[in-house]
Amino acid sequence: MVAHPTDAPALEIRPYRESDEADVVGVWERAGLVSSADDHAGDIREKLTVQRELFLVGIAQGRVVGTVMAGFDGHRGWIHRLAVEPDLQSGGLGRQLLDAAESGLRALGCSKVNLQVRAGNERVVGFYEKLGYVVEDRVSMGKRFA
Ligand SMILES: CC(C)(COP(=O)(O)OP(=O)(O)OC[C@H]1O[C@@H](n2cnc3c(N)ncnc32)[C@H](O)[C@@H]1OP(=O)(O)O)[C@@H](O)C(=O)NCCC(=O)NCCS
Repeated sequence: MVAHPTDAPALEIRPYRESDEADVVGVWERAGLVSSADDHAGDIREKLTVQRELFLVGIAQGRVVGTVMAGFDGHRGWIHRLAVEPDLQSGGLGRQLLDAAESGLRALGCSKVNLQVRAGNERVVGFYEKLGYVVEDRVSMGKRFA
């Protein structure tokens, strides 16, 4: 059943702890953000070396139900891995997690935040637009160092 804002559980948002790993990966997988072939442990380990306080989890009814990773590079802020447990989506939890990540970025002096939506996941664009994001005229490029 899809949750509605009025029956959404209360959400506690706090920084990630090492003991959250399995729960966080579970949310990512069930929300369709990652595949089992990805190096989740490596991704998490790397994030914990830089602004680990901006790796947030949402806790409701004693379990991890959402995540967001943010970071400020001195010029732009970035949002990654925003995910809400599928049975709790559309209940306002994604907004709360994104708000918390944005607050953390602003506190570091960040004046603009960027994010990328994977091709095939365009259905989430409406969510971000609702929260003030606009689709920008850019070509996204990347290069792996390892
Ligand atoms: C994207 C995601 C995090 C949004 O979280 P959520 O808890 O479902 O969203 P919320 O309930 O907080 O939505 C906030 C507002 O956006 C609206 N909204 C949500 N999804 C929307 C969509 N696809 N299109 C338009 N509006 C949308 C909601 O109706 C709500 O508006 P309201 O406050 O006026 O009622 C969640 O759907 C998710 O985990 N998706 C799978 C993982 C994913 O794709 N993450 C993004 C990677 S870029």
